[in-house]
Amino acid sequence: MLDTNVQIFDTTLRDGEQVPGCKLNTEQKIIIAQQLDELGVDIIEAGFPVSSPGDFNSVYEISKIVKNATVCGLTRAVQNDIKVAAEALVKAKKPRIHTGIGTSESHIKYKFKTTPEEVIVRAQEAVRYAKSFVEDVEFYAEDAGRTENEYLARVCEAAIKAGATVLNIPDTTGYCLPSEYGAKIKYLRENVTGIHNVILSCHCHNDLGLATANSIEGVINGARQIECTINGIGERAGNTALEEVVMVLKQHPYLNFTTNIKNKLLYQTSQLVSSQMGMYPQPNKAIVGANAFAHSSGIHQDGVIKNRETYEIMDPKDVGVTESAIVLTARSGRAALAYKAKKVGYELTKLQLDIVYANFLNFADRHKDIKDNDIHQIIESSGLYK
Ligand code: KIV
Ligand code: ZN
Repeated sequence: MLDTNVQIFDTTLRDGEQVPGCKLNTEQKIIIAQQLDELGVDIIEAGFPVSSPGDFNSVYEISKIVKNATVCGLTRAVQNDIKVAAEALVKAKKPRIHTGIGTSESHIKYKFKTTPEEVIVRAQEAVRYAKSFVEDVEFYAEDAGRTENEYLARVCEAAIKAGATVLNIPDTTGYCLPSEYGAKIKYLRENVTGIHNVILSCHCHNDLGLATANSIEGVINGARQIECTINGIGERAGNTALEEVVMVLKQHPYLNFTTNIKNKLLYQTSQLVSSQMGMYPQPNKAIVGANAFAHSSGIHQDGVIKNRETYEIMDPKDVGVTESAIVLTARSGRAALAYKAKKVGYELTKLQLDIVYANFLNFADRHKDIKDNDIHQIIESSGLYK
């Protein structure tokens, strides 16, 4: 019987940090790692230690300070990578080496210029070598999304035999449809000997905007770890957004999955990562975007003012946002104006509201952004209090 708890593996500091122009120094990475630990992520992928002395140092320092989460370092299926990762993780309470190799036809033929059989041998050797340093070894089959299922199953079986504890099935290019990705996970669960002793992990990229849907489909089909980043940052169109998968699982309790994430810290964590990276999510980003809980059209505002649930499927407080925003625009109605007027200190009668509303529309047609002070001005200049 599969556990219902889904492990959250955060790779903001590794795959996420591959965003052009968002390089973090060790100090910044430590700040983010502390927040991730506080947020309740199960695994923090702290970096790719062999890639540079700076990355090695970050993984080493993060390993020293993380209290609860497993700390993970990425490697290729290369002995020196693995040895260096083990050195960087030496101070971690719970170290994990994440090693692997490309398994799709293009990786085997063009990147490695080798054969499928040779890739299986390299995969097995890498896991075995990693296992000589740490107990917890995760194996990734890069580009598994475009790897033929039967061959992928053979690679996975070899990795399990060599001692892998977690199997990562990345949709590296973000190509799979949710139904295909889910079917891939199901196929592996049904066709790989020893699969029941390891955790299957989803690692989905967002090139077609399907990373969250694919990860959820993976979990429904038997994966129990999701690899993701805060705000969905990462190369190209990014990775699965942590805040999205966590809230999908929370808001659909009948699916019967839990995570260890303290969801009330999601917004704060998003803001911290954004400020450290100098890159904020687009305003309409699910869960953490500036407009995620903002209502601007009259019909929606009226509905939300009467009952929040009319247009909100989650309570903003559940992700750490203080309250929904009623944003006044030329599409706003009287209900929203009365609501905002009350917030800035005016209880308007119906007649007063009619007068102010006409002036408000006049102003709103000429201005994109209407601030509390503007409402104040519009009311005061409407001649109600003379
Ligand atoms: O997208 C990918 O395949 C990866 C692996 C290196 C895990 O990031
Ligand atoms: Zn990736």
